[in-house]
Amino acid sequence: MRGRRTILDYKEEKIDRDLLTELFDHAAYAPNHHLKEPWRIKIFEDVARSGFGEKIVDSYIRYGYLSALSDEKLKKARQKYNQFFNSVPHHALFYMDKEDDGGYLDDENYAAVCAFIQNFQLVAWSKGIGTMWTAKPTLLDEEFIRDIGLSPSEHRLIAVVQIGYPNKIPRNRGRTPIRNSIEWIQTE
Ligand SMILES: Cc1cc2nc3c(=O)[nH]c(=O)nc-3n(C[C@H](O)[C@H](O)[C@H](O)COP(=O)(O)O)c2cc1C
Repeated sequence: MRGRRTILDYKEEKIDRDLLTELFDHAAYAPNHHLKEPWRIKIFEDVARSGFGEKIVDSYIRYGYLSALSDEKLKKARQKYNQFFNSVPHHALFYMDKEDDGGYLDDENYAAVCAFIQNFQLVAWSKGIGTMWTAKPTLLDEEFIRDIGLSPSEHRLIAVVQIGYPNKIPRNRGRTPIRNSIEWIQTE
């Protein structure tokens, strides 16, 4: 848990599909209420990476992230994003089926998928595999959701996780003392 780092820089080598499947199988032992196992995963690899990256950048543009750029700079930014998406062997999109339109049941399922993702990150790290959990407003972008073949009324996107063997492992930036976050309550 302490040694795992978020990886930005990956080797080209793909991870064997059977190994990835085995790791997701372990991750499924995450807690999930009523054993709903709400996690669903789309994995973009090979030539599918460029198209997936382009759809993400289109969404960034809709959200105005790149609005300060001239046409020329936007073209360069698109090229850089394309290089990034092609530099990572696998992009896993985690999502779930909506059950009560953003109500408590959806929150429970969302929490379970987050536990699943962290299980996956940890078991992957134990096999020398790096990951980067990303979540941006794009996950709420209805046009993006439709672009990748899902339905905003039926599906909630949860994260995009980059996966591959690490090329460079960032330094550990540590954590603040946990005692600052704990209150022990013993009296009325
Ligand atoms: C919900 C969520 C969203 C995140 N989004 C991003 C992101 O968009 N870009 C990124 O580089 N890292 C993202 N991260 C990873 C964190 O930045 C990272 O976990 C944090 O900096 C601590 O580093 P470590 O994972 O190496 O310990 C995200 C993590 C979570 C849980």
